[in-house]
Amino acid sequence: MKSFYITTAIDYVNGSPHLGHAYEKVLTDVIARFRRQMGDRVHFLTGTDEHGQKVQQSARARGIAPQQYVDEVSGEFRALLPQLNISNDDFIRTTEERHKRVVRQLLQQLFDKGEIYLAEYKGFYSTRQEQFLQEKDRQPDGSWPEIFGEVTEITETNYFFKLQRYQEWLVDFLAKHDDFIFPRYRQKQVLEFLKEPLNDLCISRPRERLEWGIPLPFDEKYVTYVWFDALVNYYSAVADRPGFWPADFHVIGKDILLPPHAVYWPIMLHALGLPLPKALLVHGWWSVNGVKMSKSTGNFIVPGDYTGEFGVDALRYFLVREMNVGQDSDFTRAQFLVRYNSELANNFGNLVNRTLNMTNRFGGGIVPAAGPTEETEQELQALWEKTRGEVIPLCEGFQFHTALEKTFGFITATNAYIEKRAPWKLGKSAEPKDQALLRTSLATMAEALRLAAALLQAVMPATTEKINAVLGYTPGPVWREELTWGTKLTGAKVAEALVLFPRPAPAK
Ligand code: ME8
Ligand code: MG
Repeated sequence: MKSFYITTAIDYVNGSPHLGHAYEKVLTDVIARFRRQMGDRVHFLTGTDEHGQKVQQSARARGIAPQQYVDEVSGEFRALLPQLNISNDDFIRTTEERHKRVVRQLLQQLFDKGEIYLAEYKGFYSTRQEQFLQEKDRQPDGSWPEIFGEVTEITETNYFFKLQRYQEWLVDFLAKHDDFIFPRYRQKQVLEFLKEPLNDLCISRPRERLEWGIPLPFDEKYVTYVWFDALVNYYSAVADRPGFWPADFHVIGKDILLPPHAVYWPIMLHALGLPLPKALLVHGWWSVNGVKMSKSTGNFIVPGDYTGEFGVDALRYFLVREMNVGQDSDFTRAQFLVRYNSELANNFGNLVNRTLNMTNRFGGGIVPAAGPTEETEQELQALWEKTRGEVIPLCEGFQFHTALEKTFGFITATNAYIEKRAPWKLGKSAEPKDQALLRTSLATMAEALRLAAALLQAVMPATTEKINAVLGYTPGPVWREELTWGTKLTGAKVAEALVLFPRPAPAK
């Protein structure tokens, strides 16, 4: 069995989870579930990033110990996962012993290899970004950009990782592996970035300035720079699970591609003689009502508000349907309601209602064997074959929004098929031909619903399960075999009714 190791970024615990965090989990979960369906042995890791200056400051502001603070906030991120029906196999916290031990081991190895040196450094430092700044970071008028917050000049002795000596190697690596970063144009951005000379990376912070971190194994007066610590989570989580490293995909947002994931991480691994991850999947950013999400302005979405009101699958569906992976998207309640009402409640929900309703009214609650089929049925079956043939490659290429569009096209066509056959008319006729056609139409709609539900399983797992249950159907273990149009439902006893996507309460 092929192993497939996929990770999300680990979230900073300096704030509560919002829609952006939820999206990354859902996207990664859809990929993980899809790969499992395709037969891979998946290992799915997520977690929290818990060291650094910002955390120390947040804890201090609340007057509690950093450990207590990170326990609380990490708990909030962990609680988000079942709320979103995320199928992660592991959850790592950078304050865990298993992680700290590996970070220290790797640092020691690099130190022993001569990849780390001590140097005096005088420069401008941004506390907010936890980084030293360079002259090129200044604005044309000489001031520092807003994002750096307060900037102070300091002199410090610190440890540096020899990044620069690997610059050529990295450029060469990227040139040879043009599928390292998805979407492709991001890889070009990285190569553009690498046209400027790299500086060696300062990987230590003196403990008098920052206490909350992993002490350097070779000099306990320092703690480890938070990015050097955080990136290692992908490796530390599987360090004692043979067969998973290297990761197949790191799923990350566009803000943390450069430099951490595209420069530091590959070079760290290469310098250690460890294999590189096979690929980075870089998603775009959600804004809300056209504006960047921000705590201070209150412009952000709490995922639980939507899962609470509309159900987990409605939010999962919306996030995956709305965003073209890699690009940015805007979240508005109005657009959410449009998709919820027209696509989920009216289109999909309606198919479920009609199938159950018609089977109960005209088939005694049992899915009949299909009678002879005509062109109308054959057209729908042909559309199914086409849809299935398109959806799998689209999912393999992360084009989930289009895969959903195609699947919902099939649902629309099935509803149109029902309109055309009008079983409610056939049911009133005693003609043997009409009765045969009635059986055909009942069997056809039930089978089409079963197939659509199977295709939606990675995005809406709970919904798929409910539909199978009301169809009186237990799917087999091999997902792909569920996608063949056939007679699996013949004789199945269906439930009375299922309200999948209830109408929301009118706007307050
Ligand atoms: O960057 N839309 O943590 P983080 C989409 N700890 N994605 C968003 C988003 C938005 N509005 N806001 C954040 C960190 N994200 C580091 C990562 S990995 C070794 C360390 C995404 O909590 C963001 O792009 O700031 C990132 O991938 C993830 O949420 C965590 O962001
Ligand atoms: Mg961030």
